[in-house]
Amino acid sequence: MKKSMFKVLSIVLCFALLFGSAIGTSAEGNVEISRVSCVINGDAATSRGFTWYTPVETDCSIELYAYGIKVADATVEYECAEWEGNFMHKAYVTGLTAGTLYTYTIKAGDDSVNGVFTTDNGDDIVNFIVGGDVQASNLEAFQVGQKVVEKAYEVFPVAEFYATLGDYTNDSTNEEWDLYAQAFDGVNSLTTHVPVTGNHDSNSGWFNAMFALDTTESVQTNNGVNYSFDYGNVHFAVVNTNDMIAISNAQLTWLRNDMNSTDADWKVVLMHKSPYSLGKDIKWPDACYLQESLAAVCDETNVDLVMSGHDHMYLRTNPLNDNKVVDQADGTTYILAGAKGAKRYEFRKFILDNYFSQDIIATAVAQANGEYFADGNLDNLDETNIGGIFNTVSVAGGVLALKSYVVNDETQEIKQIDELTIVKPQGENKVTFTGENVQKSSIADTMSSLMSLATYTLGKWVPMFLKTLPALLVEYAKSGTF
Ligand SMILES: [Fe+2]
Repeated sequence: MKKSMFKVLSIVLCFALLFGSAIGTSAEGNVEISRVSCVINGDAATSRGFTWYTPVETDCSIELYAYGIKVADATVEYECAEWEGNFMHKAYVTGLTAGTLYTYTIKAGDDSVNGVFTTDNGDDIVNFIVGGDVQASNLEAFQVGQKVVEKAYEVFPVAEFYATLGDYTNDSTNEEWDLYAQAFDGVNSLTTHVPVTGNHDSNSGWFNAMFALDTTESVQTNNGVNYSFDYGNVHFAVVNTNDMIAISNAQLTWLRNDMNSTDADWKVVLMHKSPYSLGKDIKWPDACYLQESLAAVCDETNVDLVMSGHDHMYLRTNPLNDNKVVDQADGTTYILAGAKGAKRYEFRKFILDNYFSQDIIATAVAQANGEYFADGNLDNLDETNIGGIFNTVSVAGGVLALKSYVVNDETQEIKQIDELTIVKPQGENKVTFTGENVQKSSIADTMSSLMSLATYTLGKWVPMFLKTLPALLVEYAKSGTF
């Protein structure tokens, strides 16, 4: 059943990508629907959250169809509010059937949009796509990221959802989100999306306004959302790394409880800022602090994989515990997933052995010049690696397989740049937390979080930074940027 569903989804996707007008908006009258998304909200087998925007206030509805038959028994809760000059519409749908291919029609005034998604069927198989930053301000740059997502679905049509690891736009303005929608509404209406907040999306609640996420357990929603869900035999925690500059103590408690409340075979964290990177942003205390704060929770709760963005390059660590390389069974693998978009970074070589030990890096690709790091070699330049990056992850029982690819800007040729397979026994994770896990921002948490960050910054980050200051200044003199 599942294979045939994917076949149908693939066919629909291919047709839609080939004939963009087949699925998408058909504007008539003065209402045009845009910024369409279907996201995970709660149970991936039975619910979804939908968002769309209209320029004027209007009645809206969403109709769902399972294999062409109108769904009568799902529950839909609507929310509508003015947002920055437009009208935001959200629909929270529950009561869906597991393992089902749904199509939907959103109606607003004379306009309508069609889309498709599939619910989790509850087995221990899940396939998904992960991509990093687009961080664009103009349509051309958004379209670079859009083409990378389309290429990812070409390579991996069995994907049940795609995750974006934050930094959708550069300044989170109305104009930029319109351009994002222009580029991404097509693919967003053809699959389920898992959004992660980036620091560039944190402007005054924009991220929460763009996606109909489950905010029940979110520490706050002003600068992003943290949430979690199960898909297949994987438990996913989506972390907001804007919370108290990097991560608040409240969110660390939430993550610890969340990871201890699941017996899923696999535990995956999706977030924006990266604790390990060779790019320009790792040198600041917010990202580095994650090596101590978030990594300790991942060590403690046996997280298998952390995927992040922020520095626009690809990097995979060896399995780590306490920031040291360990056997796969005892460690967490960190993937800096590469940028989808056109803004890309070079390696900052002074990072090595100053901000973390060089031996933790398994492989890395600098996206600005294709420089390649493997086996301690930093001099292997490969121009064909230059382009947008996407990652595919396939989890089947006790096997997790990750593959990473670059899409050449000029030729659109797809080249695999990395591969990782993890094999582990199933049934080993136990539930050790069963209480309510609603951790909210408070003055006390703000104070203790700032104290934790300040202690780290003064005690660990400042000495590292001072050690690398001469190299930083040389870099600045050379390129005008750190
Ligand atoms: Fe970022």
